[in-house]
Amino acid sequence: MSLSEVQRRRTFAVISHPDAGKTTLTEKLLLFSGAIHIAGTVKGRKSNRYATSDWMEIEKQRGISVASSVMQFEYRDAVINLLDTPGHQDFSEDTYRVLTAVDAAVMVIDGANGVEEQTLKLLEVCRSRKTPIVTFINKLDREVREPLDLIDEIEQHLGVSAIPFTWPIGMGKDFQGVYDIQADQVRVFRPGDSTLGGDVQTLQGLGDDEGIARFGEPWRKAKEEVDLITGATPAFDRAAFLEGNQSPVLFGSAINNFGVKEILDALIDLAPPPSGRMTAQREVSPEEPKFTGMVFKVQANMDLAHRDRVAFIRVCSGHFERGMALRVTRSGKTFRANNVVTFLSQRRETVEDAYPGDIIGIPNHGTLSLGDTLSEGEPLQFLGLPFFAPEIFQTVEAKDPMRAKQLGEALKQLGDEGAIQVFKPMVGGMTVLGAVGALQFEVVSHRLSNEYKVDVRMAPARFRLSRWITAEDPSRLKKFVDFYTDRLALDASDAPTFLAGHVAEINAAKESWPDITFNELREHS
Ligand code: G4P
Repeated sequence: MSLSEVQRRRTFAVISHPDAGKTTLTEKLLLFSGAIHIAGTVKGRKSNRYATSDWMEIEKQRGISVASSVMQFEYRDAVINLLDTPGHQDFSEDTYRVLTAVDAAVMVIDGANGVEEQTLKLLEVCRSRKTPIVTFINKLDREVREPLDLIDEIEQHLGVSAIPFTWPIGMGKDFQGVYDIQADQVRVFRPGDSTLGGDVQTLQGLGDDEGIARFGEPWRKAKEEVDLITGATPAFDRAAFLEGNQSPVLFGSAINNFGVKEILDALIDLAPPPSGRMTAQREVSPEEPKFTGMVFKVQANMDLAHRDRVAFIRVCSGHFERGMALRVTRSGKTFRANNVVTFLSQRRETVEDAYPGDIIGIPNHGTLSLGDTLSEGEPLQFLGLPFFAPEIFQTVEAKDPMRAKQLGEALKQLGDEGAIQVFKPMVGGMTVLGAVGALQFEVVSHRLSNEYKVDVRMAPARFRLSRWITAEDPSRLKKFVDFYTDRLALDASDAPTFLAGHVAEINAAKESWPDITFNELREHS
């Protein structure tokens, strides 16, 4: 396998608070690369014209993107994999997991709103994984906040050093373009979303007199601010960017396709190609000849015509070829990957081969679960796929007791998929569902009825918190389990979980059992 196939890959996600412009930017990125030819193809649009499956009705009804998907395109010499993330704050577990499969992220901030709640949460995940972030401040064609304030806010709230690469000249009706600080160049703004970015007028080395003559007061203000900000911020340091401590900041207007090319260029020039990934056994380098991959997302019934579930796999090393035999570490089973798909604008295309950083989809009937590692035979298990302690709990039962068995099977699938967390109390009682966002219950209830023909009744459970329990000493864990049996449940992977109504109960248990660890995050192992 040639090194360059790894080196030319860039795998990233666009993250934002809802309505900041993620969908618009994604569309422009794809348009720009020639991957799609009409805007409006990317899902998540309020005016969405198609439904990939019935349960996505919820997405249509609410105008939010519940599902994620993957798009691949080429730009310059690079192969870019763009992973879409659902933006709604109620439905973020999936988003978090998608972030484990990328090497960089583009953070879109609505210039009028600044840093918003969801951005903060997503940033936390990126920071904990040291994911480099390119920041795009959007909607400069509107009246937005003062650019200096926005930079300050990013630094304060997100705890990264924000390094402006461009600076806006005016805003709203007066938005005239951006000044590229490094290149001493002005890119002139021209409204209209048909421009593909290539024919933007650039003015090199504009003197102050010429600048004021052409742009008036906004030029003077922009130059003053640039002087101020370059004096106050450190120089861009790629190593600090790769560690997630510095973020280049670009200004623009996604809807006008202005500033989009610069994002792609920054990703190719600055963002890293796929790097090594840790397994429980050893670090796997992308340059290794043998294929390895990790399932970071499973989605059932993506297409009702196909009636399957698709495992999304990030290629971590080697060269994937269709038809190769792959071993699932968890089950020890080997299967032939004959049917492999990628998703480009929702058209299923057969993949012949793939390289590290690429995402492939394997339709299956339960062979693959969230967090699974695939290899050519070596028993490896990739780490780092997070499950978050749920914050809301509901009990669930089938309305028709005769459908209880079907409910159990359906919940097993939905649990494997990570759509919801399923807890089976150790000493009987109703199954408890745990979610990070309330919308997850709605989606699951809808899917149970639509896909599995089980109508359910859900009711608030008495639990408010859960912690996965672990201990160095298995005999202590067993003692704890015996002592608290009525408080414990098993999750979809049979990991013991302590359920509590109040944080005080957890604290009390912690005090009495110092050698038991109460985990808020579970990594697949
Ligand atoms: P999201 O995926 O982050 O939720 O945001 P999305 O792209 O759907 O954009 C949210 C709204 O912001 C949309 O308007 C979109 O047209 C608008 N928008 C995106 N980029 C820009 C920009 O650069 N300038 C301006 N002025 N607006 C922008 P909407 O009216 O809510 O939806 P729609 O009817 O246009 O689909």
